[in-house]
Amino acid sequence: MGETLLNIRGLKTYFYTASGVVRAVDGVSFQLEKGKTMGIVGESGSGKSVTANSIIRLLPPAGKIVDGGITFDGKEMMSLSQKELQQMRGSDIAMIFQDPMTSLDPVFRVGDQMVEMIREHNKSLTRKEAWDMSLKALHEVGIPSPEKRMKSYPHELSGGMCQRVIIAMAVCCEPKLLIADEPTTALDVTVQAQVLDLMSELQKNHDTAILLVTHNLGVIWKMADSVMVMYAGNTVEYADTKTLYQNPLHPYTWGLLDSMPTLSGDSSKDLNTIHGTPPDLRLTGTCCNFYNRCKYASKICEECVPPLQEIEPGHFVACHRQCEGSRLERKG
Ligand SMILES: Nc1ncnc2c1ncn2[C@@H]1O[C@H](COP(=O)(O)OP(=O)(O)OP(=O)(O)O)[C@@H](O)[C@H]1O
Ligand code: SF4
Ligand SMILES: [Mg+2]
Repeated sequence: MGETLLNIRGLKTYFYTASGVVRAVDGVSFQLEKGKTMGIVGESGSGKSVTANSIIRLLPPAGKIVDGGITFDGKEMMSLSQKELQQMRGSDIAMIFQDPMTSLDPVFRVGDQMVEMIREHNKSLTRKEAWDMSLKALHEVGIPSPEKRMKSYPHELSGGMCQRVIIAMAVCCEPKLLIADEPTTALDVTVQAQVLDLMSELQKNHDTAILLVTHNLGVIWKMADSVMVMYAGNTVEYADTKTLYQNPLHPYTWGLLDSMPTLSGDSSKDLNTIHGTPPDLRLTGTCCNFYNRCKYASKICEECVPPLQEIEPGHFVACHRQCEGSRLERKG
């Protein structure tokens, strides 16, 4: 096992709203090693982005981390001040979002934004040095005519090009962790593959760890060393990627895998879907959150929350019926 870069233990992030407390993240635990990629999957609203944003406390005022621990590169993130966190964002931890416009300021030219960000994190560099570094990085991520692009405004670039600029910024700062939240969802398929390849290059050249949030299990298979499956704010399964695909154990993971299209599949047949809908996150926390959709549910599932247990080395599952001495058989 390599050196742990990010260690999240029992993370709980709630939103205090007029209609009640929303348990967006209600027990998430995982570890990410230096230079490795971990994928987070789960359906919409399961808490993937709130988990990722909690790491750098990028939460709206209603959102609070109410429990758990986050250690990054030996530092306890909860005890850092806003100023220390600000320093860390962009330098030690870089982020790529689904909409690149979230990261780029529409009113400044690309080159000026890159230079400012580089100098913010390395104050000894001159403007000329930061400019040359930006040019080199844009070249490295395959932007044609980088000199010209440095003088463009973000709206003059395509979505794929903007994601490349953001990856180029990450290249300049050599972050230890890149958090990529649906980085390719808004891009067309060929550009998606290019952006993923660039992230892999960045990882290889700079030993960057990647936390990759995606709906796409195919992307996980291609990119991730390990996977965490989330459902209604909880980690329900967590393992290395190969184990998760070869020996998935949580009924929700089974549902996710069964709903994946396959190239060899019969296209005339409907895809399998997981029936029902996720629970209201204001009402969770008393039973297994998957209870109302699970065909394996029994009485205990309704009575208490299943703990996350290590069923085999490195393979964690939160299911009352998948534990030592009791195994479920997957139904077709
Ligand atoms: N500002 C907010 N106020 C109240 N609740 C919120 C807020 N932001 C998020 N939530 C709640 O947190 C839950 C998790 O949101 P999150 O954005 O992490 O989902 P996600 O898994 O990233 O979904 P998607 O795949 O659609 O991006 C949502 O279902 C929502 O109920
Ligand atoms: S704890 Fe029960 S309801 Fe939840 S996933 Fe396991 S079998 Fe299904
Ligand atoms: Mg999200």
